[in-house]
Amino acid sequence: MSRTPIIAGNWKMFKTAAEAKAFVTEVKGKAEVEGVQSVICAPFTALPALVEAVKGTSIKVGAQNLHFEDNGAFTGEISGIMLNDLGVDFVIIGHSERRAYFAETDEIVSKKVHAAFRHHLIPIVCVGEKLEEREAGQTKDVCRVQTEAAFNGLSASEAANVVVAYEPIWAIGTGKSSTAEDANEVIGYIRGVIRDLFDAETADQVRIQYGGSVKPNNIREYMQQSDIDGALVGGASLEPASYVALVEGAK
Ligand code: 13P
Repeated sequence: MSRTPIIAGNWKMFKTAAEAKAFVTEVKGKAEVEGVQSVICAPFTALPALVEAVKGTSIKVGAQNLHFEDNGAFTGEISGIMLNDLGVDFVIIGHSERRAYFAETDEIVSKKVHAAFRHHLIPIVCVGEKLEEREAGQTKDVCRVQTEAAFNGLSASEAANVVVAYEPIWAIGTGKSSTAEDANEVIGYIRGVIRDLFDAETADQVRIQYGGSVKPNNIREYMQQSDIDGALVGGASLEPASYVALVEGAK
């Protein structure tokens, strides 16, 4: 089964609309590599400019969150209807920063995944263990519970379209990346969980990224692994040249 690798930049709370537009001008044509899906996940306020700027390119746009309801009295929230209306294709769900700072639970993550599919958005669902959990030997259990919640109630065809990002929390923004072999082992385990929930054919289609201090100088090590289908990248996705190098490295 060949899966198209996917490099997604998660800009987090960085870049204005004008900066997003300037970024695309720099990476156009370069961050477009045959056989690699390139996605930029930007703050809500930059999404309209970004969608406009990537028109005619193979670069896709993602949001970093959505609310699980379609409309309602939820001050400050953005729904799947609104993202779909903007022309966004992807949405990050359950990033560890949202789980840690905005009290996102597995139940909320599950509802958000369903909301994404209702509005034709591809969810990039983040799972991963804290340092204490890794040290206590709980990495796989934590990832299993989070993965089971994320895929809860999906049809096999929806499940096949989910992108999972395995991001060990201790590796995010710390410069301490997981070794490629360790990441591949956990990602292989996550694929096994999906196989148990659905079937081998579905599990083989799911793209599972690694995330956590991925840089142009280590992307190739991850991509050489059997189960790693790309990366979700924070810091190194903010500079155009670095982003281009990541996409090239995923080939
Ligand atoms: P860094 O690449 O900055 O470690 O961030 C990883 C991440 O959280 C991507 O979602």
